Order: sequence, then structure tokens, then C-alpha cells
Amino acid sequence: MSAPRIARVAVVGVGWWACRLHLVALKENPDALVVALCDRDRARADEAARIFDVPLAVTDVGAVIDAGVDCAIVATPHDAHWEPAAALLDAGIDVLVEKPMTLDPGQAWDLVARARRTGARLHVGYPFLHSPHVARLRQVLRGGELGTPVLSQGLFATGVHRLLAGDVSAQLEHGGLFASAPSTYSDPLRGGGQMNSQMTHAVAVLLSATGLHPASVSAYSNFSGLRVDLADSLAIEMNDGSVATIATTGSVHSHASRIEEYRFFASDGHACLDTVRGRLEIARGGQALTAEPALTEAEANPEKATSVALVAAAIDPDRTSPLAAPGELGADVVALLAAASESAAAGRPVGAYRPPLHA
Ligand SMILES: NC(=O)c1ccc[n+]([C@@H]2O[C@H](COP(=O)([O-])OP(=O)(O)OC[C@H]3O[C@@H](n4cnc5c(N)ncnc54)[C@H](O)[C@@H]3O)[C@@H](O)[C@H]2O)c1
Repeated sequence: MSAPRIARVAVVGVGWWACRLHLVALKENPDALVVALCDRDRARADEAARIFDVPLAVTDVGAVIDAGVDCAIVATPHDAHWEPAAALLDAGIDVLVEKPMTLDPGQAWDLVARARRTGARLHVGYPFLHSPHVARLRQVLRGGELGTPVLSQGLFATGVHRLLAGDVSAQLEHGGLFASAPSTYSDPLRGGGQMNSQMTHAVAVLLSATGLHPASVSAYSNFSGLRVDLADSLAIEMNDGSVATIATTGSVHSHASRIEEYRFFASDGHACLDTVRGRLEIARGGQALTAEPALTEAEANPEKATSVALVAAAIDPDRTSPLAAPGELGADVVALLAAASESAAAGRPVGAYRPPLHA
């Protein structure tokens, strides 16, 4: 079957994030035509379809499949990603699943297996992985330019404590049509908390840059009086024996003063990434750190790039071209964070799940 010239796209879950980002980005994308919106809330699906001028509003993912789409974005709450994504992938439709891909590692790897069976392309919603600096790190670190990995480190400190407490009253100040359900980020039974909403980005950057897989983790979490984790610290052993630490907190007071920093140490050099200031520096051998060209904030965190990549892959006749944020990486992140939650609760190291095919 030949690739379409313009991708027919659907969005499943038209809540805060889909309306604030994806529908705006898709409407700007000349290669995309949004043909269907799906939300279990009928009034919301109708309202978003009216505002974004989309011809079909439905409440059931089966109707999206019947509408004949090339690709779809799943932006339902974390615990509601698997079901629509599985149905879409089974129908051979390319899918961008928002982060975290799922809460359960078995479900995440199941989506990877479904995509492999039908040849559908599976992306995960990690904007940082589309930045030129992370692409450069992939080239330098995975390409072995700095030698053998030794220690990777990340700190992701953001201002989401109100969301984690279930207070969404200020959310529409940042755009969007509808505020998130308070439970999406604050309910421990629905994957609320800093790990699944924020640390997931940092883990994705670290795994993407190094190309490594997590083997096991020891974690501690600080709830600070919330029902969900506000801050977490992880010590990780990677599949090659190198080690990593990642820390996160949602307690920063303003978005402007957040900190998102990474260090990658290898046998022949190291690299320092700052995605807030758009900086990447690399030291080779005994030489000093040298700055790569700086990025703007929008280039360092290219939010719209996730749907651009979905659409580009859907109209690309080469169905095997590499994805910046593939399902396999999303599943590794889910497996690490699930193991970290278990470790923090049990007080012992826990292995990160990989099915035998991928071990
Ligand atoms: N990549 C990023 O940087 C980023 C940023 C923000 C949010 N997100 C992710 O986007 C997802 C959605 O977040 P949100 O804040 O928009 O959530 P939200 O609470 O606004 O919910 C999204 C929508 O899904 C609908 N919905 C719930 N269950 C459904 C189902 N089974 N079928 C169809 N529709 C369903 C709800 O009615 C709602 O309209 C989350 O997983 C979140 O982590 C990603």
C-alpha cells in the first residue's frame, strides 16, 4: 500500500493537553488533516470539534477506526492509554501515545508487540527527544565518541505541586479549553505523582541519549503530605553495568525557575545538558568543556514536534525509518518507574521488566 500524501489524523482524549498542544499543532501542520475527535465525554468531544473545526466527534475508539485514519494521538489520562492504543495499533493505525505510555510495564510491552505484529508505528509523547541537543547526544554517546559509559545523572525540578495536590484552578492560564481532571495528576490509583507526570521526561532523555536499558533500581520517595510522590531519588544500574542517578521534585515555585539538567560521564569525556537554558557542552579526553550551538527554549523543548513526527512517519513510504521517541523506549521508561515505585515502597532494589524478546 502506498503512503498517503496527507495524513488523516484522529485525537483520542481531548482534554487539557490535547487542546492546549496537539490540536493547535495539527491544525498548523500542512501534512495533517484532523478528521475525528474522540472523548468519552460527549459534550467535550462536540465542543472541541466545533472549536477546532473537525468533522467527526465520537465517544468510542471503534468509530475512529471506522472513519479511516492513518494515525492517531492518544491523550487520555495515564491509566486510560492502553485500551484505545491497543485497538488502534491492532487496526494497523500509527499511534502517538502520551507519556507515560502506560502505568503497567506488561501493558507497555504489549503495545510494542501489537505494533510489531501489524506494522503500525508507535511513538511516545516525549518532546525533549526531538530537540537537536538530544539528537547530538545520541550521536556522540551512542556512537562511542566519548568511550564507554560510566555514570549518567539527571535532575528534573519543576513547579507542578498544585497539580499533584489536585488543584487545577490555574491550569487554563497556560492555554487549553478544558482543565485536566483533578485525578489525572493527584490520584495514586490512577498513576498520579511526580514520577509519572514529570520524572518520566528525564528518564526518557537519559535512556535516549545513552541507548542504555535500565536493569534495576533503588528508589526513595517523599510525599510531603500529598497522596502522591512530590520528590523522588533513583539509583539505577544499567544493562551494561554503568550506573545512573535521577532526582526529581515538583516543588519549584515557578515554571521560570525550573531546573532540567543532565551529566553523562564516559571513559573518554563527558557531556552536560541543560534543557531550560538550551545548553549542551561536551568535554573530550583531557580537553575543557566546549559549548555546542545554543538553542531557544522552544528548540530545547519542542512540544509540537511529537505530532509532527507522528504525521511525518505516517506519510513516509519508508516504514522502518528510526523514530525519535519509539514505543520500546517508552516501555523501558514505564518499566523503570514501576520498579522505582515498588522499590520505594518495599525498601529494596527492584529489577526493571523487559520481556525475553527484548532482554
Ligand atoms: N508530553 C507532555 O509534555 C505532556 C504534557 C501534559 C500532559 N501529557 C499527558 O497527556 C495525557 C492527558 O493529560 P490531560 O491533562 O489532558 O488529561 P485530562 O484529565 O484533561 O484528560 C484527558 C481527556 O481524556 C478523556 N478520557 C478519559 N478517559 C477516556 C477514555 N477511556 N476514552 C476517551 N476519552 C477519555 C477525558 O474526558 C478528558 O477529556 C496524560 O497522560 C498526560 O501525562 C503530556
